Amino acid sequence: MSRREFVSDLFTQQFNQQPVLITHAPGRVNLIGDHTDYNDGFVLPAAINFGTDVAANTRADKTIRIYAHDSKQPLTEFSLDSITYNESCMWVNYVAGTLKILMESYPEVNGADIVVTGNVPQGAGLSSSASFEIAILKTFAELYKLDLDGVQAALKGKKAENTFVGCNCGIMDQLISAMGKEKHAMLLDCRSLTFEDAPIPEDLSIFIVNSNVHRGLVDSEYNQRRSQCEQVAELFDVDALRDLSMEKLEKHKRVLEPTLYKRARHVISENTRTESALKALQDNDIKSLSQLMKASHNSLRDDFEVSTKEVDGLVDIIDGVIGDEGGVRMTGGGFGGCVVALTPSKMIAELTEKVEKIYPVMFGLNPSIYVCTAAQGAFRT
Ligand code: GLA
Repeated sequence: MSRREFVSDLFTQQFNQQPVLITHAPGRVNLIGDHTDYNDGFVLPAAINFGTDVAANTRADKTIRIYAHDSKQPLTEFSLDSITYNESCMWVNYVAGTLKILMESYPEVNGADIVVTGNVPQGAGLSSSASFEIAILKTFAELYKLDLDGVQAALKGKKAENTFVGCNCGIMDQLISAMGKEKHAMLLDCRSLTFEDAPIPEDLSIFIVNSNVHRGLVDSEYNQRRSQCEQVAELFDVDALRDLSMEKLEKHKRVLEPTLYKRARHVISENTRTESALKALQDNDIKSLSQLMKASHNSLRDDFEVSTKEVDGLVDIIDGVIGDEGGVRMTGGGFGGCVVALTPSKMIAELTEKVEKIYPVMFGLNPSIYVCTAAQGAFRT
């Protein structure tokens, strides 16, 4: 059964009628450019063929009735007229927050009956929450014929996270979920929100491994990194680290607190690497891509200090197999989560075998492996 059929059947079971609409929004993996989005920099993510599926019907009143199949909780209900933060049921806040922000621009929308289910692994750093927000926005855009485009939807999803859910994330996850292109990665300029599609070479696969390290303290560490970056920008009197050159940073190295210096060095060097990675992809120059991804990982590990020994271990295992025929690095916010490799498809069997054999022995954890393709964003036509 396809995922469309699955969510449609769930809807019929729940509401005793057929849904009028089914939508889908993908999760994402970032190939390079981490902790750059909130510094107005560059990222190079791809949407993946794991995502959130929604089936829905309009309602004539302002009620939202939603059944989140994966939460194992019964049908939940709230009114668009009185949206408040739900302390006891976290997932509802993604819906409530997103709709609250949507209604700032479209107060006329009515309620809906909704069923949601997804297959993005949660808590793995593959943006299950952004795909949830974008799926909800796509659903309402279609149900109520709103003139909402993908970039606006991404901004609304991000605003919901920042102001309602309480996560100070950047724009990358929502924007790639909305605007990704099948078989392509996307170089996104997080300041102008313009982007360029980058083809993923035919013979390469996206190989993702979840370290399954429990991601504790992620939000507080993330917010701390973000504020360290903002401190440096303020010290140099620039709008964001995007505007600071490596020359200027080096010139003032001695008067900067060493941790702040390292954080800024990561962001500035990562922006350069990300732009170079676009060119490497376009030129099918895998050797350069390999070096750029390796340098990115080392910088996130040593300068930004967001990796873990398990994630470093996974990178080493995979690097030992693919060498310069592909690239591998940690991906996303860090503190556990996933590594991403762009690997020749013919090496997947060997990679899988090595990762499954060596990683548990080294770290006492079982890895989860996802071989992905680059998928189309929810708003991309
Ligand atoms: C998380 C955030 C993104 C981005 C990455 C790090 O995924 O949601 O906005 O900052 O971390 O690159």
